[in-house]
Amino acid sequence: MSTWANLGLQDSASPLMEQLIFFHDHALLILVMITVLVGYLMFMLFFNSYVNRFLLHGQLIEMIWTILPAIILLFIALPSLRLLYLLDEINEPSVTLKSIGHQWYWSYEYSDFNNIEFDSYMIPTNELATDGFRLLDVDNRVVLPMNSQIRILVTAADVIHSWTVPALGVKVDGTPGRLNQTNFFINRPGLFYGQCSEICGANHSFMPIVIESVPVNYFIKWISSNNS
Ligand code: CUA
Repeated sequence: MSTWANLGLQDSASPLMEQLIFFHDHALLILVMITVLVGYLMFMLFFNSYVNRFLLHGQLIEMIWTILPAIILLFIALPSLRLLYLLDEINEPSVTLKSIGHQWYWSYEYSDFNNIEFDSYMIPTNELATDGFRLLDVDNRVVLPMNSQIRILVTAADVIHSWTVPALGVKVDGTPGRLNQTNFFINRPGLFYGQCSEICGANHSFMPIVIESVPVNYFIKWISSNNS
């Protein structure tokens, strides 16, 4: 969870989010280099007194400052494309979670396990435990096994919602009448928080997501205790 003055991205809990952070840092580094170079050139223009009354064109320099930015853009475009295809890959999921957006809560279905289904509401501030996170904790968490490929199917029942968990690098729109798919792999245990990120009405801010990542045997215990 991000806290005060936390300007960067959250620590990743999945390999895909790790790659997204690497790409973000890479792009930011190029951005800083361009900003410094252009800033320096613009600043220095105010202080030089070079005048050339007969300068009308320069074929060579124009070739250079046209092609060079295109090459720099390639250094962003190619890693970006690599990430795009990496995010799209589905690797034989061992668990499928179905998540349905409602105004204003999420409901979940574990279709692999005798159709366990439940709603997940935000805990209102006046009912919050002293160690709870305001506007972020829910009554029923999504329990998922770590170190397993998980497929998530996202849809919505009323308006468009978006199932977004930053630490996992997942952000999928839930659209009525459509079923969107993505997958992720949680590589450590813990609680991972997310929120709806599609403006979906008055209580858009109040439909958080909590993932409880546990070892596989705990997950099986949880699943079987819900089945009986
Ligand atoms: Cu659901 Cu915003």
